Formats: sequence, C-alpha cells, structure tokens
Amino acid sequence: MRDYLSAYRGKNVLITGGAGCIGSNLTRALIRAGAARIIVVDDLSSAARWNLPEDPTVLFIEGSILDEEILKRAFNQKPEYVFHLAAHFANQNSVDHPETDLAVNGLGTLKVLEYANLAGITRFVFASSGCSVYGSQAPLPLKEEFVSLHLDTPYQITKLLGELYCNFFYNHYRLPVAIARYFNVYGPGEIPGAYRNVIPNFIWWALHRRPLPITGTGEETRDFTYVEDIVAGTLLIGITPEAVGEAFNLASETETRVKDLADMVNEITGNDQGVEFRPRRDWDRITRRRASIAKARAVLGYEPRTTIKEGVRKACEWIVQNRERIARDARW
Ligand SMILES: NC(=O)c1ccc[n+]([C@@H]2O[C@H](COP(=O)([O-])OP(=O)(O)OC[C@H]3O[C@@H](n4cnc5c(N)ncnc54)[C@H](O)[C@@H]3O)[C@@H](O)[C@H]2O)c1
Repeated sequence: MRDYLSAYRGKNVLITGGAGCIGSNLTRALIRAGAARIIVVDDLSSAARWNLPEDPTVLFIEGSILDEEILKRAFNQKPEYVFHLAAHFANQNSVDHPETDLAVNGLGTLKVLEYANLAGITRFVFASSGCSVYGSQAPLPLKEEFVSLHLDTPYQITKLLGELYCNFFYNHYRLPVAIARYFNVYGPGEIPGAYRNVIPNFIWWALHRRPLPITGTGEETRDFTYVEDIVAGTLLIGITPEAVGEAFNLASETETRVKDLADMVNEITGNDQGVEFRPRRDWDRITRRRASIAKARAVLGYEPRTTIKEGVRKACEWIVQNRERIARDARW
C-alpha cells in the first residue's frame, strides 16, 4: 500500500467520534504519523475515555456534535483535515431509537459540514457504510454505483442521508469532501455491547463460556474488514486528490459465513459451548455481503492486508487484555 502517513506530519486533524472503535485506531495512526494536533470530539455515548491514547498531541473535547459550543471549540483549533466518524451506531440501535439516530447522523453531520465549510479545510472524509447504502438486493460484488433507495433501518437511511449532505456541500460549495464506505469493521478498540458488532460480542460470550447466538441460519456472509486496513484506506482517502467528490468501498473483499466466524472464535478462545440458533432479526434482510474494492485499489492504492483469522486473534487479545474495564464499561 502507498505511504499514507507522511502527508499528515505536522497537520491539525479533527476526528469526530474519535474515542470509538475506528476513531481510536485512526488517532493512534495519526500520532505515529507525527500530526501536530489531533482534536477528538466524542460524547462517549458508545465509547470509553480509556480507549483513546494519552498523548500530548491529542486534544480531547468531550461533548456532542450537536452542541455548537463544542464545535466552535474544535474548529477554533484550525483543523486542516476532518474525519467525521461520530454516529449513532447502528441498525438495531436506530430501530429502537430512530429520532436520536436522525439527530446525530442527520443534523449532526450537517452541522459538522457547515463548520468545516466555514473553516476552509483541506479535506472532509465522511464515514459511510457499505452495509447500509446498497440495501439488501444488489448483486455481488457490491460496486459503488449500486446505491439503493430501499433500505431496511433508520441507520441505513441516515448513513445515506449523510452522503447526500456531503454531495451537496461538494457540489454547491466545492467543499473537498470524500466518502469512505466501510464494511463490517472489527478489531482492537471495539467494546462489546448490546448494539455492537458480532465479532466483539462473539468473543465476549466465548470468553464467558456461552454458546454463540447466531441470528439466522449461519449461512449468512459478511465482508469483515480489520480496523487497521480501514484506517489505512481512510487516511488514503484524506490525501488522494482524485478522491474528492467520490465514494469508495473499504472492505476485505472476502466473504465469511457467520457460522464459520463463530467456529473460529470458539476455537481461538477454547470455548466448547458451540452455537445456538435464534430467529433472524426482522429488519435483517441482507444474506450475503462482499464488496468490490476495485475503485479503491485503482484510485487510492488501497490494499487490505489482514486475514480474518489474524484479525479475530488480535481482537481477542485486545478484549482479554482489557477484560476488567470492558466488564465495567460495556453497555448491555
Ligand atoms: N464499525 C463498523 O462496522 C462500521 C461500518 C460502516 C460504517 N461505520 C461508521 O464508521 C464510524 C465509526 O464507527 P465505529 O465502529 O468506530 O463506531 P463507534 O460507535 O465505536 O464510534 C462512534 C463514536 O461516535 C461517538 N458519538 C456518538 N454520538 C455522538 C455525538 N452526538 N457527538 C459526538 N460523538 C458521538 C460515540 O461515543 C463513538 O465513540 C461511524 O460513523 C459508523 O457509522 C462503522
């Protein structure tokens, strides 16, 4: 993969949602890159403060992207790059709390775009979701042009809404916006919990010697992508001139069956409790997921590196290392 770190040396970078799974890893990468200042805005609604590295370059501002005072404080630091990752996450959470979902993912995104536009930034990268904007009927592999209007949850709708606002700011104001469409991200930094992804939750249950609950038949597939590969792709989107005004799938381009994932987690953790099948959630109509990353390869030089087995092992190590604070802070 191209060098994606050196361009950020000496730069000021704002990460909304920077204490979360992807944001905390992005923060670490930017510290390694030698960024001058990394401003993190996060209300800690689905993250923990300890997930964010303690470093003199990191300025943590605790608060919501809906709060203008918080945004003023963040943009007063004169960020050149904005990575907008803060979101109400994810599908089931949005079905249970659709208004919060719209407020944070819709209005919140609009506000961050407005401040970025006033500040005259170099690049705005929006964290969209490849598992959202293509709906459940598009053919595989999923290509960037397959966007659907038939979506299954408020979260999927508001992720598409965020993209539409980004396109408006690009077309109307020429704000240099680029969109990252992530696919099933996992890895160190994701605390398990009621609304979290399947991999940290499987690991947590396996460590507690419980059978892993599969909602569906287990034949469903997802394109699981290791967080460091996602961070690399995101940073490439931030520095590639041809990325402006475009959207890119960031994925592993590999399908993994949920049943195989459960077996892998049980094997790595030594859990002998197997799996148990539960009914599929009524909004969950996506049976298979595999992205095409041809565009990201060609334009960004993006290349995912981590196999699912390697990545799940690392996620597991992180959860074991942080077991006590996860037990204290996980939201179930
Ligand atoms: N993890 C995935 O599989 C995945 C897939 C596709 C897209 N995404 C997108 O990537 C981004 C980051 O995802 P993640 O997995 O790190 O999720 P995450 O929940 O760990 O991170 C989101 C962060 O935003 C913060 N936040 C929520 N509401 C906020 C608000 N009003 N103001 C400020 N901060 C707020 C949360 O506390 C959290 O730290 C999100 O926009 C998500 O929609 C994630």
